[in-house]
Amino acid sequence: MNIKKVAVIGGGTMGNGICHVFAMHGIPVNLVETKQELADKALETIDKNLERMVKKEKIDSEQKVQTLENIETHTNTINAVKEVDLVIEAVPENLELKKKVFADVDKAAPEEAILATNTSSISITKLAATTSRPEQFVGMHFFNPVPMMKLVEVVRGFETSDEVVDTVNKTARLLNKNPVPVSDYPGFVSNRVLMPMINEAIFCVHEGVADPEDIDDVMKLGMAHPMGPLRLADFIGLDVCLDIMNVLYEGFKDPKYRPCPLLVKMVDAGKLGDKTGEGFYTYD
Ligand code: CAA
Repeated sequence: MNIKKVAVIGGGTMGNGICHVFAMHGIPVNLVETKQELADKALETIDKNLERMVKKEKIDSEQKVQTLENIETHTNTINAVKEVDLVIEAVPENLELKKKVFADVDKAAPEEAILATNTSSISITKLAATTSRPEQFVGMHFFNPVPMMKLVEVVRGFETSDEVVDTVNKTARLLNKNPVPVSDYPGFVSNRVLMPMINEAIFCVHEGVADPEDIDDVMKLGMAHPMGPLRLADFIGLDVCLDIMNVLYEGFKDPKYRPCPLLVKMVDAGKLGDKTGEGFYTYD
């Protein structure tokens, strides 16, 4: 199966990045948001990120125009998914919300369409089971910033067919990404490895081992990480980090995944990182 048209549900950081890469590689995308203002905001972000690529001479201005022309905004999921081959859900990490989105998508998308979720932590198998086509359901986990990061974690649910995995792998390669297959276990591979490192860095702050800047310097200068773990936690969102730690903790019932009390306290205080202007660092 060739993917000729896509719908992306959700125009936030991940959703607009996913739309950006599909449209830039010539695949028309329907971008779905709950309100037109939010869809317009997502388009503005894509425009800004494309302009950044024009300035760096990664694309020319004609490619930018063509990319934007490949994106159509929608506020009605049912209409947006009617004629697409692949639907990628990228709404906030809330099981009930995702179930609701997939109920509409399952009803309206063509029978052969593949349903994918960009979830970073919710079980693919559990979501797939709420639809009438679990064998056509798969995880396509992109990374932020989507236009830059090469990885797509392709997460196979309990019933995902080989054919669907092949199509999704092929599609990721068309976007110039590297698909890596993983099984559906809490945190998949990416967050099972990344989040305990971030959580441990937060424990180092909590226990006064070192300041956030110094912890980040250790990991940047000693391990060549592009961002230190605390800067990265702010970039991802401390609420998202806490949600993922809780998924690992509850999923494996292993105390090694317990979230650091400082992480819990910062989320309770609304200090979520870049998006609220304050986390381990402050932002304009
Ligand atoms: N769109 C297009 N281009 C972008 C971009 C965007 N949204 N964001 C950054 N870029 C480009 C810049 O234009 C720049 O291009 P050049 O290499 O041509 O100069 C390049 O990315 C580097 O950007 P900057 O110079 O502004 O800054 P930087 O060198 O500090 O890099 C970074 C920024 C790419 C984000 C880098 O710090 C990095 O790779 N950080 C780690 C990010 C990471 O770990 N992401 C995964 C998070 S986990 C996740 O997403 C999933 C989950 O489940 C939680």
